[in-house]
Amino acid sequence: MKVMIVVGARPNFMKAAPIIAAIREHNDRVSGGAAGGDARGDSEAVHYILVHTGQHYDQGMSGSFFADLRLPEPDIRLEVGSGSHAVQTAEIMQRFEAVLLHEQPEMVLVVGDVNSTLACALVAAKLSFENGSRPLIAHVEAGLRSFDWSMPEEVNRVLTDRLSDLLFVTEESGLLNLAREGVPPERVHFVGNTMIDSLITYREKAEHSTVLATLGLRIGNNGGSRVAPYALLTLHRPANVDRRAGLMNILDGLQDLARDYSIIFPAHPRTRKRISEFCLEAHFTGDSAGSPGIHMVEALGYLDFLCLMKNAKLVVTDSGGIQEETTCLGVPCVTVRENTERPVTLKCGTNTLAGVRKEGIRQAVRSQLEKTFANQVPEKWDGKAALRIVEILVSVLERRSTCGSC
Ligand code: UD1
Repeated sequence: MKVMIVVGARPNFMKAAPIIAAIREHNDRVSGGAAGGDARGDSEAVHYILVHTGQHYDQGMSGSFFADLRLPEPDIRLEVGSGSHAVQTAEIMQRFEAVLLHEQPEMVLVVGDVNSTLACALVAAKLSFENGSRPLIAHVEAGLRSFDWSMPEEVNRVLTDRLSDLLFVTEESGLLNLAREGVPPERVHFVGNTMIDSLITYREKAEHSTVLATLGLRIGNNGGSRVAPYALLTLHRPANVDRRAGLMNILDGLQDLARDYSIIFPAHPRTRKRISEFCLEAHFTGDSAGSPGIHMVEALGYLDFLCLMKNAKLVVTDSGGIQEETTCLGVPCVTVRENTERPVTLKCGTNTLAGVRKEGIRQAVRSQLEKTFANQVPEKWDGKAALRIVEILVSVLERRSTCGSC
């Protein structure tokens, strides 16, 4: 059984890592190997090939995540780099097609909603090997919908789901969306959230990160036994950072918070570039991160960021995944967007939508800081999503190999 796993951009790595770990566990079990299990003659090992498209390529956006998440070195690197949506998608497609034709896997597994996700699914959907077959396409994190077609990710999500043979869903809204779109129910599996699998695996280890001390957020005697109260900020969505007026609006909305709290702001390369182009550096303070103000720092690796998220008083973000991670950690989150494709984080989590106007942001920050949360963790966000996925993959591939095209 040969499965090609595609990663490309930062949010893909923590979603794919648990699947690779679960495949390794499966392989150990069937061989009676390292996990010490009994050899199972009735199941085959899964040969996985990890492909990195190179959509993200920096150490800070990619390399450090491989180390933190103990991801194996990619077997194949497409090295596409940055470009417009069309250029990036087309480059990935061209390079991925050659790889698929050479390797001929039985399945291509894509995660999330980035350009790499759609590009590789599209290639696999239109491919024909010499025997007339094509690989099955599995999409992890299927069914999420913001219903906002101005978001490139929404286009990627809808099209990838349309192309997929197996759709792995993280929350109930995904099931409803896919049913409404007429996706045959036998293709859809509610498995939970592999990004949360990573969080559960690494949340203890993240406590050993030195990032709090490095940023001057450890206070008190005995080597800084207490953590100074701080907020954490991330912004990278083009709609929020690519126009000066929009970005200014958000920074204005955070003024009250910055007066009272230190706001740690690990900046995405796109955002850092815009801040410099728009000459907005004066909005950020160079003082110690223990003092109030917005402290812009380099983009952080997985464990450092998880440590900061876990200990934050409040998180302000326009990311999708961080809405889910804060839900699981029970940390209040203000999402600087008009919509979310992850409604479970509003329903039973700690997330609230603030919009992108300064008044809305100011108000949401104030009310999130005052609230106490009795948040529940969403259904099946239990650290076992990847195990469920691998079990299903194996049974589908075994069935396919015994009955040909069915
Ligand atoms: C992409 C995803 C977005 C995800 C985000 C996480 C799409 C459509 N968008 O957006 O869903 O939330 O990743 O970061 O796929 N750059 C670097 N170093 C890198 C990578 C990028 O400096 O390693 C810079 C380049 O200037 C590049 C810009 O960041 O042009 C944007 O990168 P790109 O992959 O095009 O999109 P993101 O904004 O990161």
